[in-house]
Amino acid sequence: MSGPSLASEYADPTPLQVRIAAHRDYSERADDPAAAVLAAVRLTGAEDLADIGCGDARFLARLSAGGHAGRLVGVDTAPAMIAAANAVPGVDGVPGDIRALPFGDDEFDVCTARHMLYHVPDPPAALRELRRVTRPGGTVVLTVNHARTCARTRELVCLHARSHGLRPPDGMLNDAVHSATLPPMMREVFGDVTVENYDNALIFDRPRPLIAFAEALFSFCGVAAGEPRRAQVLGDVSDEVERWFAERPGAVWRDPKGYIVVAATVA
Ligand SMILES: C[S@@+](CC[C@H](N)C(=O)[O-])C[C@H]1O[C@@H](n2cnc3c(N)ncnc32)[C@H](O)[C@@H]1O
Repeated sequence: MSGPSLASEYADPTPLQVRIAAHRDYSERADDPAAAVLAAVRLTGAEDLADIGCGDARFLARLSAGGHAGRLVGVDTAPAMIAAANAVPGVDGVPGDIRALPFGDDEFDVCTARHMLYHVPDPPAALRELRRVTRPGGTVVLTVNHARTCARTRELVCLHARSHGLRPPDGMLNDAVHSATLPPMMREVFGDVTVENYDNALIFDRPRPLIAFAEALFSFCGVAAGEPRRAQVLGDVSDEVERWFAERPGAVWRDPKGYIVVAATVA
């Protein structure tokens, strides 16, 4: 049994969608990262826009449904995400890696890369590619998490994964990419940038949704979808979560989180 990888994690959009739903439904303050990106870029609707690492393409679907008239392109390394993008009316899904984008120079007015740069081993190469494919005067917008976003729940999962001999895999997360490191990296490539900070927390008042969110983090703690020890890890995590709430009537499980939106104008 091979361990989890980026390819296995994103072969199926479901874990990503469970995480997105948890952030939507269990945040202390309303959390809408797509709206935060749109606040930074202020689209007219005419722009040619590429969303790199587009995931299940819900950001592009929102733009398309809102009547965006310019070209909308979703790029991702995962075939399941390209299929999701191609299923959205008015959106082209294009397989590609942010480090070598399959586009000519200056093809887009706006490039977004939302919550994906921490999967990339060479972030400066990715930022240079975003600059290359964006027209002078165009905008590049990225989002990345704070370094210890949702660390409490991730540590809970990793503790139980470790007790079954499973470790976070190499190559899935680049820990050097987070809200403290992205702005200087972007200044190196683009010059001036604007940074907006969004602090928040997940709060769960009962076991079930916390267990579902914890399970959606399994790959990052070394527990692949087909891992034979997966049921044991899930049983242990569920038992601990159930016990935690049973011993603390009325308590909430609070897990601090946050991200930044960084925007740059291409010279
Ligand atoms: C955490 S998900 C974020 C998806 C989406 N941007 C969102 O915010 O919901 C990361 C996405 O980036 C994709 N990805 C990872 N490495 C990539 C790379 N080098 N180039 C392009 N896409 C990549 C993954 O397949 C996945 O769909």
